[in-house]
Amino acid sequence: MNFQDLSVQARAVLKDLAFRTPMVRWAAHRWQYNFSPAQLGFLCSCLDRTRDVPGPVFEVGCFAGVTSVFLNKHMSAEGIEKPYYAFDTFGGFVEADVAFESDRRGKQRSQLLGFTDNRKE
Ligand SMILES: C[S@@+](CC[C@H](N)C(=O)[O-])C[C@H]1O[C@@H](n2cnc3c(N)ncnc32)[C@H](O)[C@@H]1O
Repeated sequence: MNFQDLSVQARAVLKDLAFRTPMVRWAAHRWQYNFSPAQLGFLCSCLDRTRDVPGPVFEVGCFAGVTSVFLNKHMSAEGIEKPYYAFDTFGGFVEADVAFESDRRGKQRSQLLGFTDNRKE
């Protein structure tokens, strides 16, 4: 057995171990988007349909920028050249907004919390 084989085996063992622990979070691919595939497709089609509309794109509430990167990749791939600005309070939703979304729009409060561990930097 040469070193390369050992290295491949060692990596396989480490990966196998990781899959049996909470480290699976880092070892396996996971869906990081807050949108379904169909919703992301809809957003892409919005960018396509408005490609000739002058002015920048605004994403209000970008959190960690996962969708921002996805949509920017789509714009680059399709040759859509316009500025893309991502906004966020970096403090999560204020209580009044959480109350509105849960009371008036039937969303789970738990879906609206937990966006505070991100910073502009
Ligand atoms: C559901 S997350 C956004 C997820 C992001 N669009 C994505 O696809 O990954 C909602 C974000 O909106 C932000 N937010 C809440 N109220 C806001 C406001 N008034 N203006 C800008 N951002 C806001 C929160 O801090 C949070 O990061």
